[in-house]
Amino acid sequence: MNLTIPVIAIDGPSASGKGTVARRVAAQLGFHYLESGALYRLVALSSQRQAVAEDNEPRLAELAAKLNIRFQGDHIYLENQEVTPDLYTEDCARRASTIARSPTVRTALLERQRDFRVPPGLVADGRDMGTVVFPDAVLKVFLTASVAARAQRRYKQLKEKGFDANLAALSRDLEARDAQDANRAVAPLKPASDAVELGSTDLSIEEVAARILAWWLERKATSK
Ligand code: DC
Repeated sequence: MNLTIPVIAIDGPSASGKGTVARRVAAQLGFHYLESGALYRLVALSSQRQAVAEDNEPRLAELAAKLNIRFQGDHIYLENQEVTPDLYTEDCARRASTIARSPTVRTALLERQRDFRVPPGLVADGRDMGTVVFPDAVLKVFLTASVAARAQRRYKQLKEKGFDANLAALSRDLEARDAQDANRAVAPLKPASDAVELGSTDLSIEEVAARILAWWLERKATSK
């Protein structure tokens, strides 16, 4: 087991609560946090602003490799401009899921993601953290929840941020993105063979985070 710079990988479908849970676990352990979906969203946003087509793989990969980005707490900057609200629209999510099918874009983002692995440790969330980006993660969690629960969470988040939202449309969008992410040829959304699966439909964020922390402590204890 690699405990030099430990990684906790949390994968799962859209709006499964993985981001909130991963942030919480990272804060409790004093670990760094990688929201890999934000990188795909940044490529989506940047390419849209530069009018690069969703299927122009060479240009998208070039863009992904050169992205000038900065994460500062909950704020995300592209070319030194804050873009946080623009990243979390449904349109950006849909475009991110589409460009994420491209193997060249994924390769261009691989090392950027691995660069987040710095002491004392990393909690990373996404779709392929446990399968591709950090296959030696000490703990891999695959977080699921029913479509209804996820659409409800997303609806609440959007409303809280002051966005207009429609529950039925959100449900349809989530299912379409899940299908696209799970059925792509490269790094599809699926649990790693050594992942623990956790259904969060009936659990609070606190309960999910507590369970992950307990697993982490168990792993650490048995690896000594
Ligand atoms: O986690 P998110 O909803 O912000 O991710 C947006 C899209 O980015 C998701 O639908 C697919 C893609 N993605 C990916 O392919 N691999 C990751 N590790 C993270 C996100």
